[in-house]
Amino acid sequence: MVEAMSESQWNQERKELLERIAILEERLERVQQLTAVGELASTTTHEFNNILTTILNYAKMGMRHADAQTRDKAFGKILDAATRAAKVTSTVLGLARNRKPGMEPTDLVSLTNDVLLLLEREMNKYRVSVEKNFEQVPEINANGNQIQQVLVNLLINARQAMPDGGRLILKISYDPAAKMVQLSVRDFGCGIPAERLPRIFDSFYTTKEGPDASGKGGTGLGLSLCKSVVERHHGKIRVDSTLGKGTMFTLKFPALE
Ligand SMILES: Nc1ncnc2c1ncn2[C@@H]1O[C@H](COP(=O)(O)OP(=O)(O)OP(=O)(O)O)[C@@H](O)[C@H]1O
Ligand SMILES: [Mg+2]
Repeated sequence: MVEAMSESQWNQERKELLERIAILEERLERVQQLTAVGELASTTTHEFNNILTTILNYAKMGMRHADAQTRDKAFGKILDAATRAAKVTSTVLGLARNRKPGMEPTDLVSLTNDVLLLLEREMNKYRVSVEKNFEQVPEINANGNQIQQVLVNLLINARQAMPDGGRLILKISYDPAAKMVQLSVRDFGCGIPAERLPRIFDSFYTTKEGPDASGKGGTGLGLSLCKSVVERHHGKIRVDSTLGKGTMFTLKFPALE
């Protein structure tokens, strides 16, 4: 009888602990989202400043030179810059709106392109050249905002693994036999020693001393968040890495029929 009591008590405690973990996980995710919004705001402000500088300079040039050729060139540059500004705004608004928890049919290619647009400036600054190898793929059932956060973390990790710049290859493809959409992020950076690989998905595991000059990295939460988001999407995340050669993260998601 006593035994039975303690077992049910034990079960009750276990249940309570699991509930608390679920609540904490939800909170962690909210904090990560706020961090992402903060990063987005600062990236967007810089981006807009750059675009405004371009527009102002070409407007001045167009006013100074009356000849049709120079004016046409100036108008062309202004139009390009303004179009880019509009694209940035709509992407940021899309991200901000997409904070709802639900899943919806999502095109991984356009989602990845949005993320790349937002990180373009940062990648240029750190001399990281991004190569895209995108196939047309079926939609997946996803929360766009969460997948975007996963991509941002993988891309920032890759950038931080190449302090002197380098290549970053993104590939999106479809495996019809497994009915899985696959996305890989490959860098040619420092790599991860084999003995550390099993720990990189642990919460708070980091080898970075703190945030870098752009204020990113160092909490050790990025990959643990990636893993939990991918698993919530019934997907898989794996890593292949060779010390001194580079790292590849591969995500797989079930395709929508
Ligand atoms: N592409 C990569 N190349 C080399 N090492 C990596 C790469 N991605 C992750 N790592 C290693 O895994 C660790 C954990 O990564 P994770 O993204 O979880 O945390 P972080 O980048 O240190 O901090 P943050 O939570 O701010 O992203 C990193 O500190 C780094 O040692
Ligand atoms: Mg990280």
